[in-house]
Amino acid sequence: MIVAFLNQKGGVGKTTLALNLAGEWARQGKRVTLIDADPQGSALDWSQQREHAGKPRLFGVIGLARDTLHREAPELARDADHVVIDGPPRVAALMRSALLAADLVLVPVQPSPFDGWASAEMLALISEARIYRPQLTARFVLNRCDARTMLARETAEALADHDPPVLAATIGQRIAFATAAQSGCLVSELNDDTPAAREIAALADAIDGLGIGRATR
Ligand SMILES: Nc1ncnc2c1ncn2[C@@H]1O[C@H](COP(=O)(O)OP(=O)(O)OP(=O)(O)O)[C@@H](O)[C@H]1O
Ligand SMILES: [Mg+2]
Repeated sequence: MIVAFLNQKGGVGKTTLALNLAGEWARQGKRVTLIDADPQGSALDWSQQREHAGKPRLFGVIGLARDTLHREAPELARDADHVVIDGPPRVAALMRSALLAADLVLVPVQPSPFDGWASAEMLALISEARIYRPQLTARFVLNRCDARTMLARETAEALADHDPPVLAATIGQRIAFATAAQSGCLVSELNDDTPAAREIAALADAIDGLGIGRATR
């Protein structure tokens, strides 16, 4: 399966979730490749930092911030159980290519009534991709979300009626994500019995539960 974290909005958690999800699948023994489709190369930086720190390699990270992604990602998917794409910024051509590559698009959003929604342009790009890829599945992922607060509940309700629907697993506001990123590791490596680590495991379960097989192209 090729899963892409996409949102034209910056700083919503695309890289954080992509790295930790890839790591979770790798921990389960899956062969995982992460494609860094962001010219800023944050995921590549993370993997270099990890290498310098002498930490074991969990999954390969490849920089592919170009609009031929939809042709190259399926090639990489042949040798992997899962390919995770860390999405590009506001570049429509890159975004289109990532959308055409993916079997599943996850749109991280921060649950605030003001900015909990993806941009109209993002949703339009998903609709456009579905013309070519009717089997494309898309879900919002609520990130930095405190399920106990009214704010998060309200937004979850508002998003439940929406297309794409909200993934059942949500991720809280957890310092561990920033701490792990700074040291080139994953939240599960800091401590696998923390809320952040459990949320990532639940995210992987929820995605597996969608039952998306590898598309034949
Ligand atoms: N659930 C979370 N709890 C706490 N901090 C988080 C969480 N998710 C992301 N962050 C922090 O928010 C910042 C932005 O996250 P990240 O880099 O993953 O977003 P992004 O969408 O990839 O941004 P960009 O558009 O710049 O690529 C990072 O410092 C990250 O550590
Ligand atoms: Mg990023």
